Amino acid sequence: MIPAAGLGTRVLPATKAMPKEMLPIVDKPAIQYIVEEAVRSGIEDILIITGRGKGIIEDHFDRAPELEAALAKPGKEKALEECLGIAGLANIFFVRQKQTLGLGHAVLMAKPFTGSDPFVVLYGDDVIMGEDPCAAQLCRAYEAYGRAAVGIKEVSAEDIVRYSSMKAAPIRDNHYLIDDMIEKPAPGREFSMFSILGRCLLTADIYPILEHTKPGAGGEIQLTDAMAELARTAGVTGVDFTGKRYDMGNKLGVMQAQVETALAHPEIGPAFRAYLKGLAGSL
Ligand code: UTP
Repeated sequence: MIPAAGLGTRVLPATKAMPKEMLPIVDKPAIQYIVEEAVRSGIEDILIITGRGKGIIEDHFDRAPELEAALAKPGKEKALEECLGIAGLANIFFVRQKQTLGLGHAVLMAKPFTGSDPFVVLYGDDVIMGEDPCAAQLCRAYEAYGRAAVGIKEVSAEDIVRYSSMKAAPIRDNHYLIDDMIEKPAPGREFSMFSILGRCLLTADIYPILEHTKPGAGGEIQLTDAMAELARTAGVTGVDFTGKRYDMGNKLGVMQAQVETALAHPEIGPAFRAYLKGLAGSL
């Protein structure tokens, strides 16, 4: 499931009328990279949680007959193939979160969809690029340990107060056993510098916990608060995942994603590199 109903207040005014999940990274909206990661991980059914003003997300993953007709011409084959490919990526379902009560509340919207199955949550504003898709790394951890798994990375002291902090003990390789966590820790209250960044694999055990989770930091129903209860009772696996994560929920993250993706882009990469070198020289 991809929660994409948030208001995106940190990227205003770009997100006043446009969902932050649709902010482009060179030539694709952020959420398309996320859907592609899920598909590369072997996931076939995807639920996107949307809300008011998020309708263009549905349009993006739909067929576009007028555009397809206009592209059905010699010389436009690649663009046509690309447009058709987006509509055929996966079975995509949508449900609206009627009030933005927090990420935990958004996850609860998935209950009728996932039933008793485990599921991966791919945060709609976190794009993770890498050879080995992050969601697949979490699925392998679930298969190995049979419990929920979260994607973690060490972050700076400056960042940890805005994210979450994990009480994590090494198991092996890049796997950790997490038996507690805290959302937005006050300075000095961190368990470690490991934070959940954008991906988790949950079991249906999370739903009864979410149903009684009270609003936490920022007055929102925090997914981390529910996952902390799961960690304390059943344990959660932390996966220090490989891949580069871009936070599309803040302006600097958006620019980092743009620049690094443009440098590696087959069409504009070399020209952009030359431009950037020239520009850097004049800074
Ligand atoms: P964030 O907390 O980063 O999103 O949630 P936000 O509320 O849009 O952020 P601000 O306003 O800039 O602070 C992480 C993900 O969860 C979704 C968001 O769309 C984002 O992809 N989300 C958040 C929901 O779907 N529903 C919510 O109630 C809150």
